[in-house]
Amino acid sequence: MLTKVNKILFGADYYPEQWSEDVWKEDIRLMKIYGVNTVILSVFAWVKIQPNEDEYNFEWLDYFFDLLHRNDMYVILATPTAAQPAWMSRKYPDILPVDIQGHQRKHGGRLNYCPNSSTYRRLSGNIANVMAERYGNHPSLIMWHIHNEYGNYCYCDQCAEAFRSWLKNKYGSLEKLNQSWNTLFWSHTFSQWEEIEVPSHLNEILPGALNDRDGTNFQGMAIDYKRFMSHSLLECYENEMDQVKKFSPNIPVTTNIWDVSNRLDLFKWGCSMDLASWDNYPSNLDHYTSISFKHDVIRGLKQGNPFLLMEQTPNQQNWQHYNALKRPGVMRLLSYQTMAHGADGLLYFQFRQSIGACEKYHAAMVPHAGHENTRIGKEMIQMSQELVQLGDRILEARSTTKVAILMDWSIWWGVEYSSGPSVDLKYSEQLQHYYRALNENNIGVDLISIHDDFSKYDMVIGPVLYMCGEMLSERIKTFVTEGGTFMTTFFSGIVDDRDIVTLGGYPGNLKDILGVWVEETDALFPDMTNEVMIDSKGPLQGTYECHLICDIMHCTTASVVGTYGKDYYKGTPAITENKVGLGKAIYIGTELSEELLRKLVLQYCGEKGIEPLAPYQKDIEIVQREKSGKRFTFIMNHGDEDKLVELPIGVFADMLRDQTVEGAISLTAKDVLILEQVIEN
Ligand code: GLA
Ligand code: ZN
Repeated sequence: MLTKVNKILFGADYYPEQWSEDVWKEDIRLMKIYGVNTVILSVFAWVKIQPNEDEYNFEWLDYFFDLLHRNDMYVILATPTAAQPAWMSRKYPDILPVDIQGHQRKHGGRLNYCPNSSTYRRLSGNIANVMAERYGNHPSLIMWHIHNEYGNYCYCDQCAEAFRSWLKNKYGSLEKLNQSWNTLFWSHTFSQWEEIEVPSHLNEILPGALNDRDGTNFQGMAIDYKRFMSHSLLECYENEMDQVKKFSPNIPVTTNIWDVSNRLDLFKWGCSMDLASWDNYPSNLDHYTSISFKHDVIRGLKQGNPFLLMEQTPNQQNWQHYNALKRPGVMRLLSYQTMAHGADGLLYFQFRQSIGACEKYHAAMVPHAGHENTRIGKEMIQMSQELVQLGDRILEARSTTKVAILMDWSIWWGVEYSSGPSVDLKYSEQLQHYYRALNENNIGVDLISIHDDFSKYDMVIGPVLYMCGEMLSERIKTFVTEGGTFMTTFFSGIVDDRDIVTLGGYPGNLKDILGVWVEETDALFPDMTNEVMIDSKGPLQGTYECHLICDIMHCTTASVVGTYGKDYYKGTPAITENKVGLGKAIYIGTELSEELLRKLVLQYCGEKGIEPLAPYQKDIEIVQREKSGKRFTFIMNHGDEDKLVELPIGVFADMLRDQTVEGAISLTAKDVLILEQVIEN
């Protein structure tokens, strides 16, 4: 269970420090009307709690803790360390960071500190300690929320010093480091550890790097710096976690992850969090599968355990360029989509809309109008009532899919730092392309780390498996030999985890498993396409557009599934299949059209007996969770039109409407159906 509470958490961030006592009382009344059962406190309250180094002010927080307790609400308590007080930056300037351009930052904003500042570590550890001592055993406390949205990098001298120690520990000798970074290139050989600078825009920026790419001359070094920054921030998190664990060892600890981004190696973070939680802020223009993808990544951080949505907005944001409103029903739809993918709690940013500074036009449960008689107010109330109706029935249910997509942050960094083959090759987009094909086919997907166990799955897809050392390729080989289906793409097996090329032809260590070797890689201009032609009779037969990259390859033991339709490599293999032991390995040398990819994954899943929950229907998403003999099916209409949806086979209880359904059902635009079915063995 997420917490000691046996219900779906429903609530919001609340900032009592920004309001008077009269407002607090009114807000408790409103929270009850909204059905709030959980409140997140003190996310940015550092200066209020500690107005100077020797003084603490807890009265207001004591009062609020007890007020919530009397009103049967739970507290998720945040350590306020994402924004340090001004007095602190002034007294200890070593806390202030240096940005990638080399500017020494001044006090202000948030996430504006150096993660390797020993003063920051001391003071953030201290505030966590003091708060945990005071509230660690409060009956209302159900969770610790450390900091807020880690992800701030720094390039200061303290970080350079810590980076060198981290490198010494990793490589042991300069000789090994020089080899790993290939430093004979451009006379970069280091003869003293002190010569190593942090890679920033002051030194290693790639000549002609495009604005939206963090180009670097030395990928090996830059990837190590990302690993180091993620590790430094994780140390900040663990430093606070250790303090709160001293006083409340049984209260789960998490931090709200900012998006699925390439700032932090999230699989490593997952190991230090009792449960995963994140903040979901899609734009109205995002396709639903890209949101589902992120939920499934977060679920994968704790090997499929339920997660918590720590933030989403009830309505518009303020920080997008165009802050469109959430259309009627969309907040509810996105909330159930989150639960469908494994969340057992839904929290919103924020309870009451603020009156000043940059978030004053960001939505809240209670808008500036100050009451609940609003469209959003009514939607929130309906939402909480439905969650009460669901009770604890879905809590702890899990995905039981047999399909996994591999994800890895070092690969993400390596691909996006790569100078070539195409600026449009984005790792996360490629993962999402494959994810979308499965998600739209209503086939569940687990996003797993390259270190996770593959044997639970029948099909493992590693799109753009750029870094593939011998250990990984051996594990893939075992998986395939024992009967699994493995699928991968262009720009795979190119380098090892130092970003040094594996010689002998691409895809390096994966050549034998795939039964192909790639001789050349062509990058297509944005308005150029090629074609994939599939001649064999069956559902795949046809000619389809392809984009971005075309590998020109030769089959050694693989057979050809599809060939290119144009250019000097017309007729050469574009998709291949290789039988190895009891399994198969498929290589896709180009970016396939959505249509072909949907058909292709369907075919290979079908061969392994993995069937979709229902046939593909535009805008309809069907996802399942299971627990102790019960299966919960979420059917969601993300489109703007009502749809007739074919249900999976069986008779179902409609959990929100108290009726039984089977066959097909009409689902209005943005509506959701949650069905319960007893599994017959
Ligand atoms: C983030 C932060 C919140 C708030 C919201 C606004 O997710 O964690 O403090 O700024 O964005 O969308
Ligand atoms: Zn620093």
